[in-house]
Amino acid sequence: MANTILVGAQWGDEGKGKIIDVLTGKADIVVRTQGGNNAGHTVFIGKKRYVLHLIPSGILRPRKLCVIGNGVVVDPVSLVGEMEELNRLGVRVKNLFISESAHLVMPYHRELDEQRELLKGEDRIGTTKRGIGPAYGDKAARTGLRMIDLINPGRFEGLLRFKIKENNEILKAFGAKPLSFAKVHAAYRAAGDRLKPFVTNTVALLHEAARRGKDILFEGAQGTFLDIDHGTYPFVTSSNTTSGGACTGSGVAPNRMDEVVGVMKAYITRVGEGPLPTENQEIADLLHGMGREFGATTGRPRRCGWFDAVATRHAAIINGIDDLAVTNLDGLDSLETIKVCIAYRAGPTRLDYVPADIELLAKCEPVYAEFPGWRTSTSRCRKWSQLPLRARSYLRSLAELTGASLMIVSVGPAREQTIFL
Ligand code: GDP
Ligand code: IMO
Ligand code: MG
Repeated sequence: MANTILVGAQWGDEGKGKIIDVLTGKADIVVRTQGGNNAGHTVFIGKKRYVLHLIPSGILRPRKLCVIGNGVVVDPVSLVGEMEELNRLGVRVKNLFISESAHLVMPYHRELDEQRELLKGEDRIGTTKRGIGPAYGDKAARTGLRMIDLINPGRFEGLLRFKIKENNEILKAFGAKPLSFAKVHAAYRAAGDRLKPFVTNTVALLHEAARRGKDILFEGAQGTFLDIDHGTYPFVTSSNTTSGGACTGSGVAPNRMDEVVGVMKAYITRVGEGPLPTENQEIADLLHGMGREFGATTGRPRRCGWFDAVATRHAAIINGIDDLAVTNLDGLDSLETIKVCIAYRAGPTRLDYVPADIELLAKCEPVYAEFPGWRTSTSRCRKWSQLPLRARSYLRSLAELTGASLMIVSVGPAREQTIFL
């Protein structure tokens, strides 16, 4: 399979977890390179549902190596919880490696995330409140703590003492409760002891694996329009969710990458605030009515809308997407007519790219093309030829408008509900 980067081509929750699980069959190693436990990747195996937040989705297949790369921010207590939950579900977490350079998400990050959102009121980002922004903030300010600090008890104690003192001053200014050094220290030291056997130099590990010809799959979290540089700033997350993030977040160079796969839904969803030009209440009602499109991390109902080809074309360029995986085709099975946004109109101007100015983006009116629906269930289709003609024509158009080739179509959450082209 060679070295493959998988990214979300929309606003997150594109079905990356399911596609990663399918592709992991052919990979040797799966690597998370950015984000933290703000991610929620759902994988169904039979009737069992697994939601992965920090651990690469490859963990569900025996003998695959899973790596949490240097670009990820790790909440160690939450990671231990996720390992225990997997154990409870019968998954043994053993082939896991955590970068010693990965930064830690601390309780004051979560508290600050919450306080900043409260202060912003109506202008809030709608974060997952997992402390992701403040953790990456500390990393950029060069004041963060890392896994390598956590597993060194003496060093960790000194660094933590200072950080708690510093952050309690900030929390005081917000009128929030100060944190107890002793409590945080005890919880983090316990997590550190548990995680120590997994912590290593993952850059060296990946290079050695690549040298031996192993195939590496880079599991993107979030989506292109949540990217800190390329997304709808400030309504974004705090990492590079686009393909470049896979290189910086793992230490594997761009010229060692062979392919970029973009995952996108056959429609669009977004959880959290910020502009979403094709948002549509009818589709939201339809999907929520089927019990679908509730956040895997926070349980919030996702905002839903028509497929936005302006956005996916932009995503194809930024990520260098070669191949597409279109998921949730079955979500559109009942519709008579399906719309696809092919351009934006802002007053008299027609735009065919996503403007960086979100005030302009918020004013953009979608220009739609209409497609006839197929009005039949696709969830049992296992081959391209079994899909209704109208569904095939819809999918071909999505790929053409996006500017990449169609590789996978997903018609249900299960592994077998996957069509390879
Ligand atoms: P991720 O964050 O990109 O991994 O996506 P999430 O797991 O947060 O959300 C995607 C949701 O869609 C999950 O509930 C998946 O089980 C589900 N899913 C993925 N592909 C399909 C599909 O083709 N059809 C249906 N019905 N559900 C799907
Ligand atoms: P996966 O990997 C969808 C969104 C939040 C919020 C914004 C910032 O499952 O696709 P943060 O907590 O990161 O500071 O929140 O980003 N967000 C996601 N939306 N899927 C995700 O991950 C997300 N991770 C963060 O809702 O709008
Ligand atoms: Mg998700």
